[in-house]
Amino acid sequence: MEHVWINNKMIPKNEAVIPFNDRGYYFGDGVYEVIRIYNGRFFLMNKHMKRLQRSAAELDFSLPFTQDEIEKHAAALISKNNVKDGYIYIQATRGEQERNHLYERSLAPVVTGFTKEAPVPLEKQKKGITLYAVEDIRWLRCDIKTINLLGNVMAKRKAEDNQAHEAIQHRGNIITEGSSTNVFIVQQGILYTHPATNLILHGITRELILSLAEEHAIPWKEEAFTMHEAALADEMFVSSTTMEITPVTKVEGTFSADYSIGTVTRKLQQAFQENIRHECF
Ligand code: PDD
Repeated sequence: MEHVWINNKMIPKNEAVIPFNDRGYYFGDGVYEVIRIYNGRFFLMNKHMKRLQRSAAELDFSLPFTQDEIEKHAAALISKNNVKDGYIYIQATRGEQERNHLYERSLAPVVTGFTKEAPVPLEKQKKGITLYAVEDIRWLRCDIKTINLLGNVMAKRKAEDNQAHEAIQHRGNIITEGSSTNVFIVQQGILYTHPATNLILHGITRELILSLAEEHAIPWKEEAFTMHEAALADEMFVSSTTMEITPVTKVEGTFSADYSIGTVTRKLQQAFQENIRHECF
């Protein structure tokens, strides 16, 4: 029986109930994190916890548990569900209140966690994926990892409806990120990705990739690039907790491009796997 975690309790999933007045339900008023589990161990947990706290603080609430307490709950849940390779989702909403745009500051946040066993998408990492380019219609605080993801889910649906695996979003001419991934290009041996501003989620995988690039003497720049520049790039890949480093072979939609999977992408994929082995095995 799969278990989930609600506030202080671990319970069977089919007994789990969310309060009707949860502001997460009314307004998408909450934050979340997805943490990868390899070999039964969390990968980059500390960074995810810091981002969760920051997201909540940006929305003017604080988590009801310390980082240590959250990590203990999370560890108990993956052990109970016997997750070896997969994820844990940890979500915190502002709490319960009669529907009202104006939130109270006295609410008790509702914290939930669930796990998913999932293998690494090796085939996609080997062969690459197709992206579908769409206008980025999201709000201007994409750096907050909120559960309110309508722009992202609409972009993802459009990608799937056009036989693509993931969306690539652009604000005007500037590429921002995927629907649930960050985007990188390589041009003349230099790695480029959008700077960590309010327009993208500051991906934990993205951050690790930049430090691996530094370590392996791959020149990199946090510099925004246009659709035109992306179309002319030598390589493109997307990154996330769930997709790690996945090469892109084709873009369709508001711009079109074809890429072969290049040496920089392969080198970073290899460095990334070494990092996982070092941290979790
Ligand atoms: N998505 N950009 C967006 C909009 C995301 O939702 C995500 C993560 C990323 C990559 O961030 P990270 O490397 O920290 O996972 C970028 C998670 C995995 C999700 O699908 O919910």
